Amino acid sequence: MSRAAVIAGIGSSVPGPAITNDMISERLDTTDEWIRGRTGITARHWIGPGQATSDLAVEAGSRAIESAGGDRPDAVVLATTTPDYPCPATAPEVAWRLGLPSVAAFDVGAVCSGFLYGLAAGAGLISAGFADNVMVIGADTFSTILDPADRSTGVVFGDGAGAVILRSGEETTPGALMALDLGSDGASANLITVPAGGSRQRSTKSAATTADTYLKMAGREVLRESVVRMAESCRSAIRQTGWTVADVDRLVPHQANIRIVHRVADELGLARARAVVDLDRVGNTSAASIPLALARAATDGTVQPGHKLLLTAFGGGLTWGSATLMWPDVKPI
Ligand code: ACO
Repeated sequence: MSRAAVIAGIGSSVPGPAITNDMISERLDTTDEWIRGRTGITARHWIGPGQATSDLAVEAGSRAIESAGGDRPDAVVLATTTPDYPCPATAPEVAWRLGLPSVAAFDVGAVCSGFLYGLAAGAGLISAGFADNVMVIGADTFSTILDPADRSTGVVFGDGAGAVILRSGEETTPGALMALDLGSDGASANLITVPAGGSRQRSTKSAATTADTYLKMAGREVLRESVVRMAESCRSAIRQTGWTVADVDRLVPHQANIRIVHRVADELGLARARAVVDLDRVGNTSAASIPLALARAATDGTVQPGHKLLLTAFGGGLTWGSATLMWPDVKPI
């Protein structure tokens, strides 16, 4: 039997005071009513000057280690689309600042699906015998790539980080990842993109190219596609696990928009009340969204030890993924 990857701890971090919808409508042509009605979001948190993605990742990671009882991870996987620098990856600095100076450390880029891709990478290291204890972090600061003039992305995204510790264990141990379904569609890469700053279009200081360093998202198309892909992926993960939809106690979806959360639940035939919602207080935090939602739900009792969980995400790439597990008796910090 292959070694299973078991969630043994979880930590989270969001920066600074909440940015309310009313605060955003002071500088963008929008209203609290539109944002709440069309997205379900009431607030989000943004980093301030001098802060970076690694700061949130280190805080969430340190809390996850404490939640898992203090064991030192032997690998760090960081899912992010907003690394501190284009080069190098952010994970080695995060590992070093966590007091893990020589462990394997690398970034994973799958935008809003990044945490599930990170879990797959971490679980792979464990099942191959390359590591026994892996930290998987989802951390993003989309506030740093938002176009100040774009009201459709400007109201949606927030910053944050969430981390879990995966330990090697038995497939039947609570917290063991039971199934993982991942997919992508590069033909639709243009739906969510930051055009400049990579090898295709290098960053320059001209005014014309500054706009291309901001996030561009075809919201309506993304919304439609996300429901179809997440529902398909959920069905695949449920099937692989040997469950039916009725077995799922809680759906923990990527927190992009309450309309997406509800439509995915409806597509699956799952009661909307079983879907965990965290976007109201933090918005869409990209790779951090699932671990932040899990940490909040496990803290307030929405998710309890023994609950059968279905995690699902969708994001730029396009990418998507789903995972199943039974929630273990861990205390989020
Ligand atoms: N305030 C007021 N009006 C607005 C705002 C706003 N903040 N944003 C857009 N509008 C207007 C538009 O201009 C448009 O006006 P028009 O009809 O006069 O042209 C109207 O509202 C409708 O625009 P839509 O884009 O159709 O609005 P929609 O209901 O789709 O909401 C949103 C936009 C919130 C972005 C939504 O499309 C969404 O959530 N999309 C999915 C995002 C997602 O899932 N992302 C996941 C991956 S993200 C990642 O990987 C980085």
